[in-house]
This record gives sequence, structure tokens and C-alpha cells, in this order.
Amino acid sequence: MNMAVKEVDYEQPQADVSGAVCATKHAWARVPEEPSQTERAALKNKIRRLLNEKNAVMVSHYYVHPDLQDLAEETGGLVSDSLEMARFGRDHAAQTLVVSGVRFMGETAKILSPEKRVLMPDLDATCSLDLGCPVDEFSAFCDAHPDRTVVVYANTSAAVKARSDWLVTSSCALDIVRALKDKGHKILWAPDRHLGGYIQRETGADMLLWNGSCIVHNEFKALELERLKQQHPGAKVLVHPESPADVIALADAVGSTSGILKAARDMDAREFIVATDNGMMHKLRTLNPGKVFLEAPTSGNSATCKSCAHCPWMAMNSLAGVAGVLETGTNEVFVDPAIIPRARLPIDRMLAFTSALKGGLDAGSLVPNLGAA
Ligand code: 13P
Ligand code: SF4
Repeated sequence: MNMAVKEVDYEQPQADVSGAVCATKHAWARVPEEPSQTERAALKNKIRRLLNEKNAVMVSHYYVHPDLQDLAEETGGLVSDSLEMARFGRDHAAQTLVVSGVRFMGETAKILSPEKRVLMPDLDATCSLDLGCPVDEFSAFCDAHPDRTVVVYANTSAAVKARSDWLVTSSCALDIVRALKDKGHKILWAPDRHLGGYIQRETGADMLLWNGSCIVHNEFKALELERLKQQHPGAKVLVHPESPADVIALADAVGSTSGILKAARDMDAREFIVATDNGMMHKLRTLNPGKVFLEAPTSGNSATCKSCAHCPWMAMNSLAGVAGVLETGTNEVFVDPAIIPRARLPIDRMLAFTSALKGGLDAGSLVPNLGAA
């Protein structure tokens, strides 16, 4: 299959993160060509057969190609946000997990299930938040602030997770930080500065922020969004909190990928403007056939459009990639066994906290008072 290589700029903070100006760094993504209809059908049949033969299950993120979302669901797997992907992979009986998403999602699955084989269509599918938070610099940042509880977003390496006290995803970050604040914790947050800033504003917690950002959400433009709102006065605006603060300020609902889906289902409107990766449009449209979904602008006068609302690394996942790794067993995700137990601790805390919340239990009781952690 042909592959187009995309050059990608991302921001990596300098060692002194307090107010430092970001230096732009460079990465790349390898995006496969769309298969023909005949090739698609053949690849899907092959994947269905191989999943059975290999006792494997597909776990896909909402941002990957619609074919990979639909096939995961049709074959008894899952399409969801990063939190539910982690829980599903841990709890499913299959011995092989095929994770379509980005590297941190495969690593989280491996940390939670070291005995399982975790395969990914392309192991180079990374994330600008992960790239922008190298473990050595992050550890130095933590060492400089020993009085703070370290809360790390799931979009990070296993080594960064192993340096943290709590892991969060965008669907549970508010609840976990609020609970930590209630128990007297001051927080060191990494890596996404927009998500961190949003949580700080919502909870009033004392948070020191790492200076990372998502190359997709960082590109949404408030000025152009206001103009689009004027053209669609009845539309509700749904925003992922990795977006800049001035974009979040225009939102009718702010939420993770699953939060955005829930808001679209529950809100009494016909039109929606959506500020997140446009891979989400597939689920939004199929679950809400009577509603219209417009992409929030990443272009216009103030644009640099590096990603145009689609993550280049999520785009590296393909049917051919899934079929290939199932057939050959290549692209297995490995995590250094020496760090797995320590990296697992903050993930287990997050999963226990969110299970308690779901079950209507007192999740806050799982958060220790400051000094007892
Ligand atoms: P969710 O945790 O909402 O699935 O988002 C992951 C992600 O990479 C967002 O850009
Ligand atoms: Fe990372 Fe942004 Fe891509 Fe999500 S959309 S994987 S945060 S670069």
C-alpha cells in the first residue's frame, strides 16, 4: 500500500516551563492511501477471520478511520474514548488486543495487561503531548516541586506515567482534580496546558502547568468560530478541553470525546459546531441522524492550520495495518517490565475512582488527605 509522509510541527517546552516560550519541533506521520471498495471489503473479511483465529479483539478510538470504528463494534470490540479503551482492554478475555489509536493507548493496554499481546497498526503513531513531555525534563520539573501531587494526562509515555501520582483522561480530569483539591493537594499538571488551564478555572485548584499542547485542538480559532456562530445562530458549540481558552469560552458544552457525544445526544438543537478531531463526526452523525454537525474552523485570518482538525498520527491507522499485524504478529507493543508496576499505580487509581463514580459510590474517599498519599 502507498504511504504519504506528512511533516508535522509540534511544540516542546523548554526546560524552564515557567512562562518559557515554546520552541517548535518537527515530527512526521505516515498516512496510508484509502483502499478501493473491493480492497476494503476483502480487508474487512480477512480481519474478521483473523480475529477469530487469533483470539483477538479490536479496540478503536473515536478519531480513527470510520472503517476501524465500525469493524471494532461489528466484531465485538469497542470504539470509545481513551478511558474506556483502557478499561475494556483490561477486562476483555481475548489474549490479543489490536489497538487502533496512538502509541500511549497501546502502552496503557500493555501496562494493564502485561500477559496479553498488544498490537498496533503502526507503532510510530504518536501524539504531540507525549512528544512534548520527555521523561528527563518532566522528572526534573517534578523534583523541583516535591510539595505537589503529580497529575498526568493519559497522553504520555509509560515512563512519565511512572513518575505520576494520578493519571487522568479528559473525561475524568475534572472529578479527580476536584477531589484532590478537596483533600488539600496542590497539583503539578502535565502535559496539556489548555486542558490544565480549563480544569484550574473550573475547580480553582492550585495547579502548576507543563507547557504542552495538542497540534489538532490548539488550531481551533475563536474569531472564526464566532463568525460561524453568527451564520448558524441556532447551533450549539461543543468543544474538547484541549482547545485554547478563548475557544472554550464560546462553548455550550465542554467535554471529552464521550462527553461531546453525550452532549450532542442530549441537547435540544438541530445544528452543532464541533471543536475536536473530525474523526468524531462519524459517530456523531450515525448516532444522531436528524442533526447537523459542522467542523469548528481551524482556518481563516489567524490560521496556521498544521493539522486541519485531523490528527496525523490517528490517520496512520488503517484496515491494511490491522490485517497485517493480525496476520504476522508484528508491531507488538512492549513496555519495560521494570516500570510497569509503578506506571500501573496511577492508572489503577484512575480506573478505581471512575468505577466508583459510575457506581454512585463515594469516589472522593479513594483520594487520600494530603500527607497520607
Ligand atoms: P479522549 O481521552 O477524550 O478520548 O481524547 C484523547 C485524545 O487524544 C484527544 O485528543
Ligand atoms: Fe495527541 Fe492531539 Fe492527536 Fe489526541 S488529537 S492523539 S492529543 S496530537
